[in-house]
Amino acid sequence: NFRSSLSSTPKKSNGHGGGSGSHTKLKRRLSLIDSDECAASKGHGNGFPSPNGTINGRPGSKKMRLQSARDAERSPAKGHKRQAPVKEQREKLPIALGRDAIVEEIRRNDVTILVGETGSGKTTQVPQYLLEAGIAGDGVIAITQPRKVAATSLAARVAVEQGVPVGGLVGYSVRFDESTSNSTRIKYVTDGMIIRELLSDELLSKYSIVIVDEAHERTLRTDLLLANLKSIIKRRNAGEGTSKGGKEKGRAQRTNPLKVVIMSATLDAEKFSKYYGNAKVLYVQGRQHPVTIYHTAASQQDYVDSAMRTFYQIHTDWPPGDVLIFLPGQEDIENLEKSVELYSKRLPVDIPGVAVLPMYAALPPNQQSAIFAPAPHGMRKCILATNIAETSITIPGIKYVIDTGKCKEKRYISRDTGTGFDTLLTKDITQSSAMQRAGRAGREGPGYCFRLYTEDAFKSMPLSAEPEIRRVTLTSSLLQLKCLGQDLEKLDFIDKPEQDSIASALATLYLLGALDDSKSLTPLGRTMAHFPLEPTYARTLAASFEHGCPSEILSILSVLSASSKLFIDNTDTREAASESRSKFRAVSGDHMTILNIVKAYEEIREGKGHEKGKAGRREWCKRQFLNERCLSEALEIRAQLRGVCERMKMDWTVSAGEGNDQPVLKSLLSGLVNQAAFLQADGSYKQIMGPSIVKIHPSSSLCDKKVPVILYDELVYTSQIYARGVSAISRSAVQELAVFKRRHSD
Ligand code: CDP
Ligand code: MG
Repeated sequence: NFRSSLSSTPKKSNGHGGGSGSHTKLKRRLSLIDSDECAASKGHGNGFPSPNGTINGRPGSKKMRLQSARDAERSPAKGHKRQAPVKEQREKLPIALGRDAIVEEIRRNDVTILVGETGSGKTTQVPQYLLEAGIAGDGVIAITQPRKVAATSLAARVAVEQGVPVGGLVGYSVRFDESTSNSTRIKYVTDGMIIRELLSDELLSKYSIVIVDEAHERTLRTDLLLANLKSIIKRRNAGEGTSKGGKEKGRAQRTNPLKVVIMSATLDAEKFSKYYGNAKVLYVQGRQHPVTIYHTAASQQDYVDSAMRTFYQIHTDWPPGDVLIFLPGQEDIENLEKSVELYSKRLPVDIPGVAVLPMYAALPPNQQSAIFAPAPHGMRKCILATNIAETSITIPGIKYVIDTGKCKEKRYISRDTGTGFDTLLTKDITQSSAMQRAGRAGREGPGYCFRLYTEDAFKSMPLSAEPEIRRVTLTSSLLQLKCLGQDLEKLDFIDKPEQDSIASALATLYLLGALDDSKSLTPLGRTMAHFPLEPTYARTLAASFEHGCPSEILSILSVLSASSKLFIDNTDTREAASESRSKFRAVSGDHMTILNIVKAYEEIREGKGHEKGKAGRREWCKRQFLNERCLSEALEIRAQLRGVCERMKMDWTVSAGEGNDQPVLKSLLSGLVNQAAFLQADGSYKQIMGPSIVKIHPSSSLCDKKVPVILYDELVYTSQIYARGVSAISRSAVQELAVFKRRHSD
């Protein structure tokens, strides 16, 4: 079952590897009727067939109800209600068969590449195998993940398997959240966090093994890490005389060698192997069952609605088994969650209930565990996930996958055509993603994947995604590399970044004052790199110390850095929301309003006011149309940032005092100088540093106001370009800015 090979080509397995025609066990049937017909709400599904061969069973029909009732009795939910003990679960994983071979290869080689299907046990087992085999010596084993939620939930799982609390032997470290101790030996980290660690420990000397997981995703930070690990291996594992420090150092360093393991769920591992001097590639054979794939006959206009109808077709027509729905982002997930729940309340009593569970990056940790637990008795789980469930997280019990064919992708929009920032755009997935998504249905038995797009659409998808380094802003990475004394242009990346992209990052850092005329790091730039914030926000924070208002800025930046939005904003409730929030409104606009809200929320947390306890706080937030999750996360982020300031001996308690907006706004402007615009004669605003014409978003408290200059958090693209999160600033504040003076004296 396990093959270790360097030269032989890996056997393609179901659900993986990309190409459409190569998966013999994947039957593909086209739906039999035009889905447009059903979309007109008289039908129920999307033209997908029923298991008994009929099409579009309606939930009200007698026959179907009987069938579903019977299904409920022999619900598989019962089956995995009593989960096997973890030890048994571990031994049953496909990777367990390869345990000895994996351990042996890693013991022998500095760099090993491990490829295996999602769910085979790579992420959870390999670190434990290495620890148990004593290969890590006294060092720590780090496992990197592109996503925060994956790192925290995997650490939780492995802690359970080891029978220890999280933060002991098994811990994690992600931005704004850490749970580790001196006894931690297995540490799940985000790729961003380990890069940050390079700043204080450039040889990553406390780690004896670094496992780069999900390498196929090719995030910018993974690529950056791979490049650094390549040189760290050379330095830590070099023989005498070959290391920079000469003989003595060379000998000393060999006592603490580094092992690198690169793990990937897709088969294109040759690239990693070549990059690391033909490193050994190991393949773990998964246990993939056949997955039947259906496509719609016509493309779907509204994929959220289409997903809902397909789910209920499955729920009422098909045998038991949980459903996983892939959606692009949190917003769609929340919308679908609402409609699935609403509909489930109207189901006839003899139809099993539905447990709807969302899974996305910003999901609070306490809600994550429900995803992995079996569905409540007789119910069907309906999991709504982003592409996080594609390869990084495996959810047991899934038999059906509904794939909207969409994901969100970060992409840099150049200053000439738009924002000059990374923007998250909803776009079509790749063939490789589509196959991964389908594969999730066949982990425990034969499964079914319902694609909400046509077969032609699938065929026209790109095979795999472009690496992030080719499409996102390099500003933050460039700053970190400068601090490490490295040059982005000279670093040995798997794929080189574009020259334009480097130039733009250099320009931004120069504008922020992090680099000087000769592209060298300034002391300000070094300070900025210490804050775990994007360079724009880091500049704002640095400026707040000059302007005497770090206390205020930390509160505002914490809210802006939270993973969910503060204001619950939709067109229907906008007026009511504006009304009830008016007491917090600041004359200067949204940023000072945020500050007032944070202060009010803190008072409630401290027990001042009528609202008592958690429920009271939640009720209070609801009344003002505020997202409590954002506020509580912001307070945690703020505590972390205050800690960073303390370690840097910077006094964050300094405050500008009540009602003193100007220093706060000036600090914000220092960082957000690219995000400011002048009023024009027609009432619109023109960017100071860019060509775009923007309007103030209707959700802003400055919406109907005309002020000489605005400063904004982000641009929203609809029929026109809107600035969201807006404050008014004075012309003189702009003219005082060094960059502005420089630009106008040129
Ligand atoms: O990394 P890979 O995709 O190969 O697999 P893994 O993440 O190590 O998952 C191995 C097994 O652990 C799967 O069967 C998961 O369902 C299970 N697991 C779990 O039950 N709970 C978690 N929080 C994480 C994984
Ligand atoms: Mg994994």
